[in-house]
Parts: sequence; C-alpha cells; structure tokens
Amino acid sequence: MIKGFLFDLDGVIVETAIFHYQAWRKMANDLGFDISEEFNESLKGVSRMDSLNLILQHGNVMLSEEEKLILAAKKNEHYLTLVSQMTSDDILPGVKDFFEQIKKTDIKIALGSVSKNAKMILEGVGLINDFDAIIDGTKISNGKPDPEVFLKGAEELGLQANECLVFEDAVAGVEAGKRAGMKVIGIGHENVLTQADLVLKSFENINLSDLLSKIL
Ligand code: G6P
Ligand code: MG
Repeated sequence: MIKGFLFDLDGVIVETAIFHYQAWRKMANDLGFDISEEFNESLKGVSRMDSLNLILQHGNVMLSEEEKLILAAKKNEHYLTLVSQMTSDDILPGVKDFFEQIKKTDIKIALGSVSKNAKMILEGVGLINDFDAIIDGTKISNGKPDPEVFLKGAEELGLQANECLVFEDAVAGVEAGKRAGMKVIGIGHENVLTQADLVLKSFENINLSDLLSKIL
C-alpha cells in the first residue's frame, strides 16, 4: 500500500530548469562556448558539481578543482538572483490542487531533490509547510541516479521503500526511484521517461484515487 509520496522539485513542483539553463549558459559563454537547450535536458536532476563537470567536458575546458568551485559558486549566485523572483504563481499547473487532494488522505509528502536551494525555493513559492520531510542536496552525498535521496525520504517518513511513490521529471531521477525499489510516476514524455511505471504530462486535472488505482 502506498503511504508516502516523494516529490522531486525542479520540473515537478516548479519550473526552474530555464533558470539553471540561463545561469549555466552565461558561464559557458564566458568560457567561450555555448550549450544548447537539448544539452540542458541531460543536466536535469544532476547535481551542481556533476552538471559543471559535464558542461566543462562538453566545452573541452580543463580546470582545477579550486577554479571549478569558484565557477559553481558564481553560477549559483546568478541562479539565486533569478529564482528569488519566484512566487506562488510559479507553482506548476495542478500541483496545488493535487496537494489538497493528498491532504485529505493519510498519505505523507516528502521532497526528494538534489538541489541545495530547495528549501529557499519552497519558501519563496509558499509550499514549505506542506512537506512532512524535506531531503535536499544538503542532506545527501550522492546525486541522482543514486537512490540515496529517495531512500532517505522514505526513512524520514518512517516508511518502507515499497510504500513510497516517486514523482520525477528527469531520466536520472526516474532511475533513482526505480533503484530505490519504488514505483515512479514520470512527469513529462513517455518516450523520454521510459523507465517510469506511468507518465503524466502534468498534474493538471489529475484525480488522486484514479491515479492510485492505475499504479497499484
Ligand atoms: C536539480 C536540477 C538540476 C540541478 C540540481 C542541483 O536536480 O534539476 O538541474 O543542477 O538540482 O541544484 P542546485 O540548486 O543545488 O544547484
Ligand atoms: Mg527535476
């Protein structure tokens, strides 16, 4: 029986991928190369330092660990100026209504994000109090597709892995959920999120009991 929902943040609850893209792109441009939107897709769900390494590899740029830390901090500063403008209007369509449906049941809600900025974003959009547990990038050592973030989420909710359902928009995140031994609902496209047990385009007009009957 499903007793807990574990939500990814970026691309599931709010759309921040565009801001990550803008900030990484600026950094890449400053280094003398560009990154495409398509390349940005491969960064979804990937931690800050892993993303930086993939981008530098893409641009054939070799840097010391110290230089990388400076670039990552600069990118984050830029990213924070972009996301600090977010309000409840930036919550993705259908999410609030879906949360209201969950609150009428005994199902617990946790966040499972590798973002170190997750709490700040949840506060900004006014959702921080809706979570029973928050696992973010400050609490884990391994980013997705490692299952750590979701296993910790289950643990903090006091549940077994098979009692949890994951909501994810990234290929790496779907893989993390499956590796944690959980059912995973993909948010996006079926041809991209091929490992997911079920794929929804968004939370718009989603009925919780219908969804649970489909996933069991
Ligand atoms: C999410 C995003 C990634 C991002 C990662 C780390 O998983 O999908 O694009 O790199 O979080 O985010 P942070 O806010 O810690 O830089
Ligand atoms: Mg995501």
